[in-house]
Amino acid sequence: MDRFVPVKIALGQKPLGIWGSLQAARNNVLSLIPEIATRQPIVSGKVGVRWHMVMDPTALRRILRDNLQNYPKSTVTKELLRPAIGESLFIAEGAHWKWQRQAAAPVFTHRNISNLAPIMTRAAAAATERIAQHTGRAVDLYSEMMDTTFDVISDVTFSNSDGFDRKELFKMIDTYIDSTAKVSILDILGAPSWVPRPSRAMIGSDIRRIKSIADRAIASHKANKHGEAADLLDLLEAGEDPDTKRRMTRQELRDNLLAFIVAGHETTALTLSWALYLLSHDKDAQNRARDEINAATGDRPIGAEHLDKLPFVRAVIDEALRLYPPAAFVSRTALGPDRLCDRDVTAGDTVMLPFYALHRSHLYWNDPDNFRPQRFMKPNKIERFTYLPFGDGPRICIGASFALQEAVIILATLLKRFAFTAVAGKNPEPVMILTLRPKGGVWVHVDKI
Ligand code: HEM
Repeated sequence: MDRFVPVKIALGQKPLGIWGSLQAARNNVLSLIPEIATRQPIVSGKVGVRWHMVMDPTALRRILRDNLQNYPKSTVTKELLRPAIGESLFIAEGAHWKWQRQAAAPVFTHRNISNLAPIMTRAAAAATERIAQHTGRAVDLYSEMMDTTFDVISDVTFSNSDGFDRKELFKMIDTYIDSTAKVSILDILGAPSWVPRPSRAMIGSDIRRIKSIADRAIASHKANKHGEAADLLDLLEAGEDPDTKRRMTRQELRDNLLAFIVAGHETTALTLSWALYLLSHDKDAQNRARDEINAATGDRPIGAEHLDKLPFVRAVIDEALRLYPPAAFVSRTALGPDRLCDRDVTAGDTVMLPFYALHRSHLYWNDPDNFRPQRFMKPNKIERFTYLPFGDGPRICIGASFALQEAVIILATLLKRFAFTAVAGKNPEPVMILTLRPKGGVWVHVDKI
């Protein structure tokens, strides 16, 4: 049998600036990345503004950590997301970011995340029941995973909210992400927001609707007596600025909860979908994971207490995040002059961090385009700043441990009940819109074990 090579994006053969690659980028932002970005530490150019794509671990450390204040998030990301999630933690800079980050930190402690595991176990069981209705044929696991991770995020954000129309919120948030997600090359290169874009489709009234659903959910949550473990809203309400003791206003709470939903729901669904796609092509890895799961959990449902005993399942997730990082590309704007990889950066330059290319770089990875989860069985062998699915430095993803716990619980639960087999000729196409999505879905043949 031919060796399985996971689907990949045809990266540009010529550097950015060539008309053809601009055209290609309209459909897939990642095709902006030239192939040489997987063989060089930095690629620079000029299309209107000067830009740099940085794949060098030392330079990445400088951008994300040591000289962070010189590299705020680019206006693109902020302008796309601000209408829905306001000046929340995801978007804010400087002091306004810092106090929100400190106030939110306790929400994501190891203990609090472990306490939320039963919600993830329950959502995994519900997914199993749904998928069991369709065994013996091909199922779109991407769509299933979107439902499953939405169950988790809506339960952990608004666990006690009566009358909260979760289906409507789900639909509206996905439509919002879709409509904002069509990032054009103009956006990436930092053209001002008044330049007309083809796709700013979602209108103000839809965004107001999202906010009003969230506001109602918060109000009803307050009115209801609290149930089991403290949810994210309880924890965020209790969070305070360590210096001033200020707590979040109702609007700040809402913006941050919506930020958690927008940043956490689709990204985790993508991780699981790509992991299932990879496993469906690799029976050995699938069997190894299943043996590990059965040995660790017997016939008990999978919960937080099993995580340490599932290193291979975790390695599969890590490897899926390497090959298909949901946030495949983030951008910064340089505030002042700097030097990266012996190259001058001037104020206003766009600095792109293409994690997709970093994770497939021949400089830092052996056999970079292949699925080899065992490379993560010794995580301390992975050089810092060569693997950045969650970013790094002070602005590293606040939900990383939450997402990893959720992904391992759901993947392990599914592997225990089902065998997954690739469907010939039905490969997903990796397309980066705002996130790296499997275009066409992840259709996999599912059998009961
Ligand atoms: C596999 C799933 C996830 C991936 C791949 C992911 C990836 C990322 C990345 C790369 C960043 C940094 C962006 C940048 O530096 O420009 C980020 C930030 C962030 N993520 Fe995640 N994320 C995931 C899940 C989550 C979850 C579950 C939540 C919340 C429940 C969340 C909330 C956030 C927030 C609030 C930030 C902004 C943090 C700050 O700026 O201080 N993410 N995420």
